[in-house]
Order: sequence, then C-alpha cells, then structure tokens
Amino acid sequence: MVTARLGHPHLGLGVGLRSVHYPHILKEHPEVDWFEIISENYMDSQGRPRYVLEQIAERYPIVMHGVSLSIGSTDPLNHEYLHKLKTLGASVHAHWISDHLCWTGVAGRNTHDLLPVPLTEETLRHVVDRIRVVQDVLERPFVLENPSSYVTFACSEMPEWEFISRMAEEADCGLLLDVNNVYVSSVNHDFDPIEYVENVPHERIVQCHLAGHTNCGTHLIDTHDGHVIDPVWELYRRAHQLTGGMSTLLEWDARIPEFPVVHAEVLKAKQHISDELESPQGTPRPEAAKRSHAEDDVDNHISEPVVPHPAVLVAAEVE
Ligand SMILES: [Fe+2]
Repeated sequence: MVTARLGHPHLGLGVGLRSVHYPHILKEHPEVDWFEIISENYMDSQGRPRYVLEQIAERYPIVMHGVSLSIGSTDPLNHEYLHKLKTLGASVHAHWISDHLCWTGVAGRNTHDLLPVPLTEETLRHVVDRIRVVQDVLERPFVLENPSSYVTFACSEMPEWEFISRMAEEADCGLLLDVNNVYVSSVNHDFDPIEYVENVPHERIVQCHLAGHTNCGTHLIDTHDGHVIDPVWELYRRAHQLTGGMSTLLEWDARIPEFPVVHAEVLKAKQHISDELESPQGTPRPEAAKRSHAEDDVDNHISEPVVPHPAVLVAAEVE
C-alpha cells in the first residue's frame, strides 16, 4: 500500500530561495516553513552561494529542484551531474530532489529550456527506465514535475495526466504537481485542468508548486513573475482536498519583489485550505477553475509576450 506523499513529510508552505533575498533571510530569519533551491545554482559553486546556503540549511528544511536532468532526452544520462546532485543533497540534507518531465537538449547541445516529450508508450518506457537509474544513483527521494508547454506532438497517444500517472507508478517515484503548469498547459492545449488534477495518483504527490504566469492573449507563458491567479488557487484547493495536504512552494523568478511579498503570496494558501476545512462537504468549485480563458486573466497582467522562461533565469541566478 502506498501512503500519503509516499511517506515523505508535509513541510508546510515554502518559498523558492533566490539570491536577491539572501540579505533579508540572513538578517530577519523569516518564519518560512522551508526553502526549495535550484540545484544548479549551488552544485558547482563553493563561494558565497554555498556559504549562504549552509547557513540557511541550518535553520530551514531544504528541498532541491533541478532543471538540467533532461530525463526525456535520448542522450545518455549525465552521471557527473547526478553525482553532483547527490553530493549537494547530502550536504544540505535535502528531503527530496526534483526535476521536470522534459528534455533540455540532444546530441550534447543544451537548449536551456524545458521541452515537452511526445506522450507515447515508447517515451514512457524510456523515461521510466531512466528514472529508475536516477533513483539508484541519488539514493534520495526523487520527484518529477509536470511541465508547462506550448506545443504538443501529433504522435502523442495519451493525455499528459495519464502519462505522468503511469510514469510515477511504474518507476515508483514521487510527483511534484505544479498547478500553475497544469493551468497554463490547459489553456494552451484546451484540456480540462480539473480532470487532470483529479486523475493523477494523489498518494504520490509529494509537493506542489504555485506561481504566476503571463497572459499573451492567444496563449499563456509560465513566467513566474507575479501573483497566483484565482483559477490556479482553485486547482490548488482541489489538489489539497484530494491529497490531504502536500508541501507547497511558491516560485517567483522574474520581477521578484521584496521577500515579505513573496512570502505573503504562499501564505494565501492557508486561506484556501482553511476555507475548505470550514466546509465539511469540501465542495470544489470547478466552474470557477474552468472559467473561460479570456476571463481568467482579465484582472491580471495581459502583457507583451517577450518574456524569458524560468529555466533561462537560472543562469542569471548563479553568482
Ligand atoms: Fe514549477
């Protein structure tokens, strides 16, 4: 029997650690439940980032989140990278290590983006086999995140929720459910985000991501540059109902405001959870989550489409 969150702890409400907030965190020691670090920002650095991270890791639980594993690529797994991940995980006592269901390059070329995979039986076999190898090397809980995407493959044979469900079951790994990614992809590819959240294996959801995105009118881009919009909160509420609670983290990677603003954003989750607890029926509000795409973002930021992908921002983060 698989237990909730695969037996991993519920860390509470955390924030993605970004260098612009180092001074505030070191001086004020904010009451954040936990931090998620971008693995690549620390694995090759022995300078100030590692020094700061060590101090933060003494006070707060740490989870590692990577963008370079390229689990979907046909290139061989990078074992040097995996061993660096393993070493960093040990040094910060990471509760788990995550990355994305994606590929970032092929034939030795790195696109510095998180690209979608064709959702086929062949891809599923390929990814499951590689996850098993990664888990064997890391010897630390491994979790994969559903991506946001902008194109789909004509050869795909199943919906994404089915792919990641079978992937997690067959590889016996955890899931990081990014409800903003579900929402962004649901608009871009016209599927029901509620159906997605309701059909993934809830006992395998170890962690959740929240973030803002940019509405470009004809499509959404996963920019992590603003507040979480109401339809995404609705998906979070539903995921919380179905999982019984999961470690929740806010990602804010562009136009990053002061730390208290970022922290306050993730603390809004308490309202959605407590509202639900006050309602014994726990009735979800899927109609709100399924509002028309044009309506969803009308009170948010419809802005110019020239925006970087969060994966690109990782490089700028490294000092
Ligand atoms: Fe995410």
